[in-house]
Amino acid sequence: MNGDVSGSYNGSLLMNILKIHGTDLCSLGDVESPDDPAYEEVVFIDKAKRYYKKCIIYNDRLVGAILIGDKNEFLEYRNLIENKIELSEKRLQLLRSGKTTEPVIGKLVCSCNNVGEGNLVHKIKEGCRDHLQLCQLSGAGMGCGSCRPEVKAILERALEPASTSHAEAEKLST
Ligand code: FES
Repeated sequence: MNGDVSGSYNGSLLMNILKIHGTDLCSLGDVESPDDPAYEEVVFIDKAKRYYKKCIIYNDRLVGAILIGDKNEFLEYRNLIENKIELSEKRLQLLRSGKTTEPVIGKLVCSCNNVGEGNLVHKIKEGCRDHLQLCQLSGAGMGCGSCRPEVKAILERALEPASTSHAEAEKLST
């Protein structure tokens, strides 16, 4: 579509994100491992914290995951799966990262990745000027994609030269 005749569409990563307040549940890619020794299943369960994570690995690459109780690793896992990154010696670190993300600042913009307007404004103030880059850095727009127009509008507003947008950005980032 962009005029690159050598480019081909190779399919999209399947994702499901349940949006119920107070419940984190999402899945990416293959969530069941076939009966094949090349596939591995890594499962973490913490009953007390109501946390469950399943990772499906094929040939040392993450090909699918289920996250319940905490979906902070959604974006990281999406990148690992989409870019077919070899886990190798980073396997433990990546699969057990227990990464925590920034708290939501301001009005919630992206419910897939819990990103607020203030979080976006912070990234813009740090120098991010591009819509796609803003999505990748903040995680907003990287799930179902429905918030992308709003992310774009926030970026455009924050980049407006008028002093009002500067005042607004100051207000949101505090
Ligand atoms: S609300 Fe789904 S990606 Fe932002």
